[in-house]
Amino acid sequence: MKDGGRRGAIRPDIAALELSGIAKVALEALDDPEVVPLWFGESDIVTPDFIREAAKRALDAGRTFYSYSRGHRPLREALAAYHRRLYGIELHPDRITVPGSTMLSVMIAGQCVLERGDEILLVSPYWPNIRTVAEILGAVPVEVRLEEGPERWRLDIGKLAAAIGPKTRAVYVNSPSNPTGWVMSREEQAAVLDLCRRHGLALISDEVYHRNLFGPEDPAPSFLELADEEEPVFVLNGFSKAWAMTGWRLGWMITPRSLAEPMAVLAECNNTGATAFAQYGGIAALTEGEPFVRAFRERCRRNRDLVVERLGGHPRVTLLPPEGAFYAFPRIEGIGDGLAFCRRAVREARVGLAAGYTFGAGNEDHIRLCFAIATERLTAALDRLSVLLDRL
Ligand SMILES: Cc1ncc(COP(=O)(O)O)c(C=O)c1O
Repeated sequence: MKDGGRRGAIRPDIAALELSGIAKVALEALDDPEVVPLWFGESDIVTPDFIREAAKRALDAGRTFYSYSRGHRPLREALAAYHRRLYGIELHPDRITVPGSTMLSVMIAGQCVLERGDEILLVSPYWPNIRTVAEILGAVPVEVRLEEGPERWRLDIGKLAAAIGPKTRAVYVNSPSNPTGWVMSREEQAAVLDLCRRHGLALISDEVYHRNLFGPEDPAPSFLELADEEEPVFVLNGFSKAWAMTGWRLGWMITPRSLAEPMAVLAECNNTGATAFAQYGGIAALTEGEPFVRAFRERCRRNRDLVVERLGGHPRVTLLPPEGAFYAFPRIEGIGDGLAFCRRAVREARVGLAAGYTFGAGNEDHIRLCFAIATERLTAALDRLSVLLDRL
């Protein structure tokens, strides 16, 4: 072996892992201040003061030790109170785990249900990391694409049912959705849960955008309102998107009550609990964060309208208005190679986008842009993008 066998010791599927179509574009121009970054899922707002102060106080009080791997009790109590207030549901503390980020919760949920060779149905277009989690675990992702239009993205439950085979073990859904902005209705949720129940499938529901909505509803419908406490339903959530805390790596998962002990072991072996002092920032977000959540939602709603009007109005663009999250996922006629187009957008328009192919098959002529940044910067980026589109 050319490398003296060193490479051969690594699992081939791990050695073959590739960056997503988000990172492939972004890593080339990450430090260029001229590029307006619409590629990642975050705003340009620094985490609010009261959250940072709470974490600083915890740090100054010496909260620098290991915390219980399923999360500090005060944070888990604050999460129980948050769910009571938001959804009117009572969660037993054994169901709440704070292992670290939502990303980590996705990995742990995958570890709970997927064995090598199992299939997991991914409602697509999807956030690319869920596909990679399945691949890392040796499972097989099977995509079931939402129907596009005429007014909104729509789940065809018959299509989902038809994709279930003897190896299917789980379904992953993410609503409000990255990248489409689709928000699942309660009826769609009930139909998916019913399907999972009939086929004995686990359900992984990624609800990290639960507060990022543009209609009158808040929060988004949750599977927590439908599922019993012992069903194999994993509801994943986190602080990144609603409270501008992407760098904190803090999130939570709600799991069947009888899994409390395995969850403690998985949380311990993946991370040994979330960063101790960050958890106090999380408590402040949950207890004092409502004005911020509302103001941020307003900003995103304004920006959504701007993107729909400016980008959606371009003759080459088809854009279904996002109902939630903070992304637009337009189809662009004549885009050709999407990755090449995104690289060109960086070079010529100085705008950072994500290439559609990375969100699943059938999305090659889409791009994703995040519209959570300040309206003035977004406007400048849209101006430059429309000049580029005119040149296609
Ligand atoms: C659907 C979805 N789930 C999870 C995450 C990760 O969230 P966190 O920052 O809490 O790891 C993201 C981030 O973009 C996301 O879009």
